[in-house]
Amino acid sequence: MNDAATRAKVTLTMDGSNRSVDLPLMPGTIGPAVADIRKLYADLGIFTYDPGYGGTAACESKITYIDGDKGILLYRGYPIEQLAEKSSFLEVAYLLLNGELPNAAQRVEFDRGVVRHTMVHEQLRRFYDGFRRDAHPMAVMCGVVGALSAFYHDSLDINDPEVRRISAFRLVAKVPTIAAWAYKYSIGEPFMYPRNDLGYAANFLYMMNAVPTERWVENEILTRAMDRILILHADHEQNASTSTVRLAGSTGANPFACIAAGIASLWGPAHGGANEAVLKMLGEIGHVKNIPDFLARVKGKDGHARLMGFGHRVYKNYDPRAKIMQQTCHEVLGELGIKDDPLLDLAQELERIALSDDYFVSRKLYPNVDFYSGIILKAMGFPTSMFTVLFAVARTIGWISQWKEMIEDPSQRIGRPRQVYTGPVQRDYIPVEGR
Ligand code: CMC
Repeated sequence: MNDAATRAKVTLTMDGSNRSVDLPLMPGTIGPAVADIRKLYADLGIFTYDPGYGGTAACESKITYIDGDKGILLYRGYPIEQLAEKSSFLEVAYLLLNGELPNAAQRVEFDRGVVRHTMVHEQLRRFYDGFRRDAHPMAVMCGVVGALSAFYHDSLDINDPEVRRISAFRLVAKVPTIAAWAYKYSIGEPFMYPRNDLGYAANFLYMMNAVPTERWVENEILTRAMDRILILHADHEQNASTSTVRLAGSTGANPFACIAAGIASLWGPAHGGANEAVLKMLGEIGHVKNIPDFLARVKGKDGHARLMGFGHRVYKNYDPRAKIMQQTCHEVLGELGIKDDPLLDLAQELERIALSDDYFVSRKLYPNVDFYSGIILKAMGFPTSMFTVLFAVARTIGWISQWKEMIEDPSQRIGRPRQVYTGPVQRDYIPVEGR
């Protein structure tokens, strides 16, 4: 008997016929095995139906692993808690992109590679003038990041590994500059050019907060908090925006266009827009005494109200990132001398009440990464419209790592889902006078 014959499989039998098919099971290193259905249509003439892809693995990946029941998140095997405590964002970026933590020399070279690319083409500055000052910065991000592909004609050959490497550097390095400029544009302040003597997180805070007329002083606690927020958001396996990047990339589109597609997908309130929505929700609730009324509306599904920052497609337990966020939140508020933050008090009370309410408990709805991130970012001076932008800055390394993995995967094909067609059967055209 050969290996293939002994491999685990599931057998699918068509009701009312004696036709069946063996679907080989592909094991992962951890997590459930997946049934390989590629031959299903050829053998049984049927497709599978899975709106929202809740039970479908669209690719093989070695980057990130989530155990949603246990609340575990690993980047390349390393627990998120250890990385958040001991590592730095650029080291995590190296890890996600290359598969291993860098040694000292690799780390210096990688950091230098990113730093060398932080400036954007001076012509790109002019793009901002085309936007209204009150444009949402995510709209500016979609446009300006997409426009990068018009500037790098030398790096559009995705089959060249060196091009893929440089594109990753360019994106990770330039996205903070583009993001900070979107903010500066919205408030009418001069753009601050990147400072390559600062670390990645500090440089971002500098470009966001500094003005040319004053000396900017780095606050190491806030830099560390920002670095940790970036680590926590860096990747999250096949979520909506990452799947969007992979789908766009599967057509051979250039990486800048693919990341712009990812940014568009991240924008929605069910995904990266949730941190902005959490603050809006807390503002609407206004006071602890209004929590029961608000939760009653959520549970009654009145007007599609949801408890933003709660629930997750994969986590059916506490999101491990939310725990670290909560701790970071206390550190940041402590550093900023904010003793009683009414928003934090409200959020904590909301969490307490929700976690003892059968509606949320029975549906396994727990706080996700976005529940506390908005409170930290607000305390650090970020306007709510920049929250999702910050998520995009952090997630760029995850998107580009997943894109690179996909391009280098020999089994990669253009993404092309099927459908159940429920429209009219074939019929003949009727001229307008006969309708
Ligand atoms: N508030 C109230 N009810 C909820 C919520 C919520 N936040 N999330 C899910 N439910 C209910 C939902 O109504 C449904 O109830 P029922 O079975 O009675 O119809 C049940 O829980 C299952 O929900 P679902 O819509 O099937 O779950 P999903 O996996 O499709 O949605 C989600 C996941 C994240 C979109 C959703 O939980 C949600 O909208 N949460 C609020 C938005 C949010 O915080 N998003 C950030 C996610 S973490 C950051 C990121 O990855 O981008």
